[in-house]
Order: sequence, then structure tokens, then C-alpha cells
Amino acid sequence: MKKILVTRRLLRSNEDKLKNLYDVNLNLNDELYSQDKLIELSQGCDGILSALTDKLDEETINKLPDSVKILSNFAVGFGNIDLEAAKKRNIAVTNTPEVLTDATAEIGILLILGACRRASEGIEGARESNWKWSADYLIGKQLTGARLGILGMGRIGQKIAHVARSLGMIIHYHNRSKLSGDKEQGATYHETLESLLSVSDVLSVCCPASKETVNLINKDALEKLPKGAVVTNVARGDIVDDEALINALDRRKVYAVGLDVYKGEPNLNPGYMKHKSAFILPHLGSATKETRTAMANLAIDNLTEFFDTGGCKNKVN
Ligand code: GLV
Repeated sequence: MKKILVTRRLLRSNEDKLKNLYDVNLNLNDELYSQDKLIELSQGCDGILSALTDKLDEETINKLPDSVKILSNFAVGFGNIDLEAAKKRNIAVTNTPEVLTDATAEIGILLILGACRRASEGIEGARESNWKWSADYLIGKQLTGARLGILGMGRIGQKIAHVARSLGMIIHYHNRSKLSGDKEQGATYHETLESLLSVSDVLSVCCPASKETVNLINKDALEKLPKGAVVTNVARGDIVDDEALINALDRRKVYAVGLDVYKGEPNLNPGYMKHKSAFILPHLGSATKETRTAMANLAIDNLTEFFDTGGCKNKVN
């Protein structure tokens, strides 16, 4: 029986499935393993079922035992893993695409609604009974008729576009390549990021984190937005330069932000906290029972496919 290290707790049904298939080392206390501990626990293992909270950088990967042949990441994103370092050591890296598209897009829409309609301030006022109705109380930005700029029109971006369109938003996008007409559904393609930003009343960051996208939304990029734009990020914190975004909020260049992801999670730049207009969530993108179950099942299936065939359709390196 192959031996698997599972770095974080999974839902019970997924852990039971793993126990039936593998000799598993589960993390029953859901402890956040240090890199040293992860290396120590992986001795004798054939694979690791990792999570986005594990920093599998070059140094860590180089210290993994030779027995480890696969890192099955419990996420669609794999910015936490140095793919090149894994490839050099002949370790396959897999992810869990598709199964989390709907849940993550739901949070993407919530970020847009929450930021545009001043939900943080509203929740605070309602909880403290510190409000009274008036014609101009917490006036926000209406989505109907606003232009939504989607950066990264993959599966999640397309689903956000679909829902936003039904709310009356006008969809624009920038992507490595233009989509076919049936996927585009009337959205306007922008060949450059600058061009997309110039028409984005609301920006939704949906692209993967990679060396090319780190701090892509920086001071220069933010300057290209219309004044009073709303910036949302459902992808990864690394894509946004926090200092630049907070500065844009300070100057009211940006009206509000909706964020689910941060650099250095679980911490977030304290500069956001002074802005009541910041609608912030703790990385809830894929957090539904259906989706987390499906993601773990897929991460397990990826292990099985790899051990059975030596390959895997969800291999990313
Ligand atoms: C969630 O953030 C994921 O990448 O799966």
C-alpha cells in the first residue's frame, strides 16, 4: 500500500476514503506544519496531499525524501509550490480544477456586491443598531449598467461574467488569448491590461498567481482605472500590491475593495482596516461542503491515477 502524508485536515468522508486506499498519515489536529516538520513527516511517503497553506519552495522540495513522487495539491492554485524545483526532482504536481469554479465565482460575485453596496459599513451599523434610514444613508454603486473588467477569463472568470451579466453588468476582459464566441458571450476582449483597466468601473482579479502576475495590480495599473473604481480579488493576494491599493483608497482613486485573498495569509495589510469601505473575507472561495468534498476527492483521484498510470490529467508541471 502506498504511503501518503496529508498535511491538513479534510472533511471526514474524504479522510475515510483515503484510509481505505492508502496508508495515510493524517493531521488530526490540523496543525500548520513548519517546513522542517513537513520534511520529517514525509520520510517513507510516496506522495503528499498538500494544501495552499504549505510553502513548498525550492529549499523544502530539495529536502523531501526520494520516495516522494507526487504533490497532490488540494487547490486549483499552485502558487505555493515551486513547480520547476519539483520537476527537477521528478516529482509530479497536480491540482483540482473545475470542481471549485462555481463556489469561487459565487464569492467573486459576493466581493463585487459587498464592495459596491457598502456591505461592511451596513453590517456594522445594523449590528450596533447605529443607523437610521434616510434617503442618502450608505449610498453605494449600482451594478446594473456598470462595466466589469475581468482579469483572467478562465473558468472562474467566465462564471463570474455569466452571473454579472445577469445583474446587468457590461463585461470586458483581458486574458492571454481571446476566447471563442460561445465562451465570450458578447464580452469585449482587451489585448492589454492597460486597455482593460481604462474601462473597468469594477475590476475582478481572477488570474492565477505566477512569477508573471506578482504585483500586476500595482501603482501604475491602478492609475489606469477610472476614478472611483472598485477593485476585487478572488484569486491570490500576490497579484496585488497592497501598499499601492491602500494608497489608492486613501486618495479615493479607488472607491472600495472586495478581497478574499491576501499576501502572507492569514495576515492582511493593516492599512486595509482603516477603510470602512473594505469588504474583506478570509479566503472563503471554495468553502462549501460540496466543493471541499469534491476537491479532496479529486486530489485523491489524482494520486490514484498517478500511481496507476505514472501520469495524471491534472498534472501541472
Ligand atoms: C483556492 O483558493 C484554490 O486555489 O483552490
